[in-house]
Amino acid sequence: MSVLSKVFLNEPRGEMVTFKKGFSIRLVILFTVLTVVLTGSVILVWEQVLKPPYYHWIERNYPGPANAAQRDRIEQRSEHFFISMTVDVIVVSILLTIVNRKQRRLVEANQRLAHNEKVATLGRVAAQVAHEVRNPLTGLLLYSEHLKGKIDGKLPNGDAVLIDKIIDTINNLTATTEQILNFARPVTLAPKRVDLNKVAQDVSQLLSTEIAAHAIETKLKLDDAPVMGLLDEPSIRATTLNLVLNAIQAMPAGGHLTISTSAKSNKLLLAITDTGSGMTPDQIKQIFEPFNTTKSRGLGLGMPYAQKVIQQHGGQIVVESQPGKGTEVRIELPVTERS
Ligand SMILES: Nc1ncnc2c1ncn2[C@@H]1O[C@H](COP(=O)(O)OP(=O)(O)OP(=O)(O)O)[C@@H](O)[C@H]1O
Ligand SMILES: [Mg+2]
Repeated sequence: MSVLSKVFLNEPRGEMVTFKKGFSIRLVILFTVLTVVLTGSVILVWEQVLKPPYYHWIERNYPGPANAAQRDRIEQRSEHFFISMTVDVIVVSILLTIVNRKQRRLVEANQRLAHNEKVATLGRVAAQVAHEVRNPLTGLLLYSEHLKGKIDGKLPNGDAVLIDKIIDTINNLTATTEQILNFARPVTLAPKRVDLNKVAQDVSQLLSTEIAAHAIETKLKLDDAPVMGLLDEPSIRATTLNLVLNAIQAMPAGGHLTISTSAKSNKLLLAITDTGSGMTPDQIKQIFEPFNTTKSRGLGLGMPYAQKVIQQHGGQIVVESQPGKGTEVRIELPVTERS
């Protein structure tokens, strides 16, 4: 940001002496200085560059002592006109540019605010619905399992399968409501010593069936030493699971999945790389927005949850992706003193 825009675009500060709301004395001083410098520069340009050939031209057109008075008048008027017009045009242009920029930023900030409010409201409504639905779902599951026990062996096989389908559907619904509630709840960290190598191994083990089902070749590139940090184990495990699941889902026809860990002087790193569908820059921009999904059965909560967890640990998630080539999601966590 230039010095000028810093001065003009800053919000009025508390310690600043102000005439009116949004009108600061610093602004007036800067503008006066700007006008003086501009006027000086314009006069210099006039005197050094434009005046000699112009006066020469007037002398040619109004020659002799008889025209002296008229020459003087034309010269003076031209000089005043040129200097005042040039300074005015430059100052007004600068002002308009500043006002225009400020207005654009204001519109963008308003749009962001409206969007965030919409997403927050959507999140609250979803969490409320999930909360209301959770207890009846538990009841439904109990009734169904009770029913299954009662009619076990008394129904033909085809009908008994229907009860299993009901139970599966209830379990899926319960998982979805839990996911929404997990996202809506504040993450309370209970840090303890966690080895990211172990997390990576366990998650890939847990998802081995899905990995095999999609013919995905997995490589674990783990640091030789334990990548130890003071972390909240359940939320870090859930985050890693979400990210690896995303990588798997991006490679429905197979590909390469790499999970790597390393420790730098002040950072712990966990990276998940896939050779799947990849994302466009616009898709990357929206990746952390709740309920943003391209999947028919996705909720769009995996990435925002991951971001919430990692930020709460004081770390960050970096996403790099190219459409058709693949994606790398990197988690960077701070090395805490006691780790
Ligand atoms: N590794 C990846 N490769 C390609 N696209 C990805 C990848 N990770 C995330 N995405 C895109 O980002 C979107 C949001 O991901 P996110 O994990 O938040 O939600 P989701 O996977 O759609 O649903 P869920 O709530 O079940 O996780 C995905 O729908 C997908 O379009
Ligand atoms: Mg996901």
